[in-house]
Amino acid sequence: MRTYLNDGWQFFKQWSDDVFGEGVGENVRIPHSVATAPFNCFDESIYQGVSGYKRNLHLAGGAGSTYLLTFEGVAHRAEVFVNGVNAALHECGYTAFTVDLTPHVHEGDNELVVKVDSRETLNQPPFGFVIDYQTYGGIYRDVYLEEKRGVYVADAFVKALPSKPIDVDVRLGNFTAPTELTLNISDENGVQYTSTHTCNGAEFSLLANADLELWSIDNPKLYKLSLTVGKDVYQTSFGVRSAVFTKDGFYLNGEKVKIVGLDRHQSYPYVGYAMPESMQREDARILKNKLCLNAVRTSHYPQSHYFMDECDKLGLLVFTEIPGWQFIGDEHWKEVAKRNVCEMVEQYRNHPSVILWGVRINESLDNDELYTETNAIAHRLDPTRQTGGVRYLRHSSLLEDVYTFNDFNRDGATNRKEVCPSNVPYLISEYNGHMYPTKSYDDMPHRLEHTMRYIRMLDGVFGAESTCGAFGWCMFDYHTNSDFGSGDRICYHGVLDMFRNPKNAAGVFSALGKEPFLDVTFSAELGDYPEAFIDGTYCLTNCDTVRYYKAGAFIKEYTHADSPFKNIPNPPILLDNIQSGWGSEANEILLEGYIDGKLVATKKIGSLFSYTLDVTPTHTTLHENNSYDVAEVHITARDQFGNVCPYINKAVKLSCKGAIKLIGPDVVALQGGMFGTYVKTVGRKGKGVLRVDDIEIEFKVK
Ligand code: GAL
Repeated sequence: MRTYLNDGWQFFKQWSDDVFGEGVGENVRIPHSVATAPFNCFDESIYQGVSGYKRNLHLAGGAGSTYLLTFEGVAHRAEVFVNGVNAALHECGYTAFTVDLTPHVHEGDNELVVKVDSRETLNQPPFGFVIDYQTYGGIYRDVYLEEKRGVYVADAFVKALPSKPIDVDVRLGNFTAPTELTLNISDENGVQYTSTHTCNGAEFSLLANADLELWSIDNPKLYKLSLTVGKDVYQTSFGVRSAVFTKDGFYLNGEKVKIVGLDRHQSYPYVGYAMPESMQREDARILKNKLCLNAVRTSHYPQSHYFMDECDKLGLLVFTEIPGWQFIGDEHWKEVAKRNVCEMVEQYRNHPSVILWGVRINESLDNDELYTETNAIAHRLDPTRQTGGVRYLRHSSLLEDVYTFNDFNRDGATNRKEVCPSNVPYLISEYNGHMYPTKSYDDMPHRLEHTMRYIRMLDGVFGAESTCGAFGWCMFDYHTNSDFGSGDRICYHGVLDMFRNPKNAAGVFSALGKEPFLDVTFSAELGDYPEAFIDGTYCLTNCDTVRYYKAGAFIKEYTHADSPFKNIPNPPILLDNIQSGWGSEANEILLEGYIDGKLVATKKIGSLFSYTLDVTPTHTTLHENNSYDVAEVHITARDQFGNVCPYINKAVKLSCKGAIKLIGPDVVALQGGMFGTYVKTVGRKGKGVLRVDDIEIEFKVK
């Protein structure tokens, strides 16, 4: 059982030896960031430093216990001191590590101190050159303790492929003599399979001839594997599926699937990487349910297991990779990179959502010596999955299984023949991004071009039979370093803004989904267009037919067959004759979307006469469980038709009372008619109220 140690920490912004012993720091809870930033325009040096965390650890157990302390994520170099003794060093901000405390602790009170180095001068990935993202700092994922009495399961890798017995590689801790082990496979209906085994050594494999349902995008069936040995019960969830990249495309359980995904950083406004479980899961839900994607690339590092668990649960395919950005360092640096491959594969290989390991430093040059090794490590630790490695180079040396290429082409997908041989699997790992940064408040022609670039690329990708799919850059706007971005420390590359509000381009993806969706790529305001000419009058929809009315009069009925795009599913429909001239009434446009003859969606656009604030939280029941909880609150100005008003920059006052508090400032200004805030629990249960101007939202903390 895990005992979470997220509470009770003291934080020392500046490391010194006074952290040990009597020194008193600021009381903080994990996830924690070494600095909080404004929304934009800050100096990244606020994150660069060496800081300290300290906590008392009271142990009741007597002799014979093994104490394992796990840090899920400490950015970026962590030294752990137990009662003053240096017990561990970990040099990666994106993978977990476990410290065996046993030799260093005693019954009663023990002092845990963590020295955290978050300077970009560290000799470890991703550091050494420039990096196009803020790397933040702090103990930003969960910390927990496990007490083991006697033999225990240290690790179990579940290899679960269709039509094969489940093959479990087990590693025991504290193995001294042959012992019995019970294996159970269960689902929501109870135990589905059970077997017992005798363990004759610390490492062995077990076969389970269980007849299980497959895990897939539409039916992400998960099972729980339990291994009981001595007093220890080990549990992991898993799914049965095959994921194969071929020169002809990608196959999940033997069925061809076009991968449609986005790249995701793990950052948030104000707090950087430090967001708890609910927010991690929310991002996976946005990708799957709102953007209707089937895949995500965790660029450029392994991400929270909460995020990954939700991908498992929702049926979202994941391409994950080792940390790094364009740069390869010295021998020490490379050793750390290889260790990162081990940690990534060993820590994430039971997630059925993971379909590909990225074993190269993102966009680095060829380095056959290093990448032969990283590739071999991944294959040795996981013979069930293929490898890739993200590059911008054409025809670079392919040591991995899949040619994963960043295709920054403004006119759509590059012909793959120009990139790699035709007899290897080909996957596009990024497109768009810096080629066309777009703010939610850019003018309509700019936002249109952003949208069109996604359409053109996806149309090309769907048209290229053998291309496995493509990940767009990227899910949401993100903080970056001074060398990149718009000069305000933000890369406006997202299809969502930093608060996960949709920009117009998000509609390209939503239109691929099953929930009725209807939006347009233009506005009714002639004056927002050069020469007052409304251009790019597309309708993004998954409805079968769209009926178009102008100034109250029916004009025409369209189907997708009318689209100029021939490959993308539910292709955008070009509405003709939108242009009419001055006069607001003439420009009032109504679209009705029908599926199977039933009206399922409408969209009306026209001149703005009034607007209201729409305040929508992700959830209003928060939980004080293993740590604090957070809800994301979307604040949107909508006109009388319900459309976002992209040029409303209104200032909004925020305040909280009761069992919640704000993350970030208490006055914010809308950008592109949208903004957001976060509310956070404060360690007690009860009611909390968020006020946004005169709108009150009630939260319950349980
Ligand atoms: C790529 C890089 C990403 C991001 C993107 C912006 O070259 O891999 O991290 O910087 O460009 O388009």
